[in-house]
Amino acid sequence: MDKINQALPRQSGDMAARLKAQILAGVKDDLVAVEAELAKHLHPQFDRVAMVAGHILFSGGKRLRPLLMILSARLCGYRGDHDAGYATAFEYLHAATLLHDDLVDGGTLRRGKPAAHTVYGNETAVLTGDFLLARALAVAATTGNLDIVRTIVDITEQMSQGEIDQLDKKGSLAITEAEYLEIIRCKTAVLFQGACRVGALIADADPAALEGLSKYGYHLGMAFQMTDDLLDYTADVEILGKKTGADLKEGKLTLPVIYALSRADKPDRLRMETIISDQQFSAGDFKTLIQLLQQYGGIAYTWRRAASNISRAKDALSVFPAGPTRETLLAVAEYALVRKQ
Ligand code: IPE
Ligand code: IPE
Ligand code: MG
Ligand code: MG
Ligand code: MG
Repeated sequence: MDKINQALPRQSGDMAARLKAQILAGVKDDLVAVEAELAKHLHPQFDRVAMVAGHILFSGGKRLRPLLMILSARLCGYRGDHDAGYATAFEYLHAATLLHDDLVDGGTLRRGKPAAHTVYGNETAVLTGDFLLARALAVAATTGNLDIVRTIVDITEQMSQGEIDQLDKKGSLAITEAEYLEIIRCKTAVLFQGACRVGALIADADPAALEGLSKYGYHLGMAFQMTDDLLDYTADVEILGKKTGADLKEGKLTLPVIYALSRADKPDRLRMETIISDQQFSAGDFKTLIQLLQQYGGIAYTWRRAASNISRAKDALSVFPAGPTRETLLAVAEYALVRKQ
């Protein structure tokens, strides 16, 4: 194990808690407002819809995407009182993709609870995802701003295509780092980027501010997915609220594996390929794979790539004057790197 790898788990625990507390202090009232608006804008016609949408929506979740929109708007000087309402579009959209994603991935645990499709069935989970997606677009329309509507439509198109492209490459041992980066850009980074962009748009921000926040969101999103992919190998299930080893189980090769495979000698590459190709891999196989990921630097490399995206995200905020909102956004960027959930 190299230096970064050894240092990471010990340091990041305290750091994650400290950053989380700092962020929560900066968004306490916004979080309360978002929770209220999420219930207010749902408008389900049928109890069944309220139940299934509520299952995913009101079961925890960091509310990171709506908070990013609100903080971005504030950073650009927004003083109105529609921000929390508009921000629900990003949580509805996120929740819709989680419903679909768990079904596609065979994920059984979400936000510490059984995934919706395991409780209500596949059909209901898919259709509730569609409903939430429509809610996101309906909220976007209430802004009366075509640029915002276009941004949210574009995110939706890119996310679904990213998930399809990932599905298409599932099981392939030949997936490249470039292909991986394009998948995570589409499925994750565009949503972070779009949330920040819409925040700037509702504040009528100038082009430099719009560009700065868009860059911040993009790099934050890239790093966020890289840490998600690391956590799939390294996290504590109780804290994460999702099952670990899920990517390997579905034959999804993420950056730690892609990198380690490219560095391994022939016998070790074969050992890794055998474990990856075996859907019934044992707990021992999983441990062996993690050891190989560490030995060939897959964990450390992914972490370095995430750290470099975070550093670029933070740099992108330098167009804004220092202040509490910028500090909170900087803390969010640092948190994305060391988070445990
Ligand atoms: C999970 O996102 C999906 C990814 C893009 C990795 P979050 O980790 O933000 O999930 P919640 O909203 O907090 O449950
Ligand atoms: C992100 O990828 C999913 C979405 C963008 C919807 P994952 O499939 O790794 O997300 P989790 O780990 O299930 O939350
Ligand atoms: Mg998944
Ligand atoms: Mg997935
Ligand atoms: Mg994941």
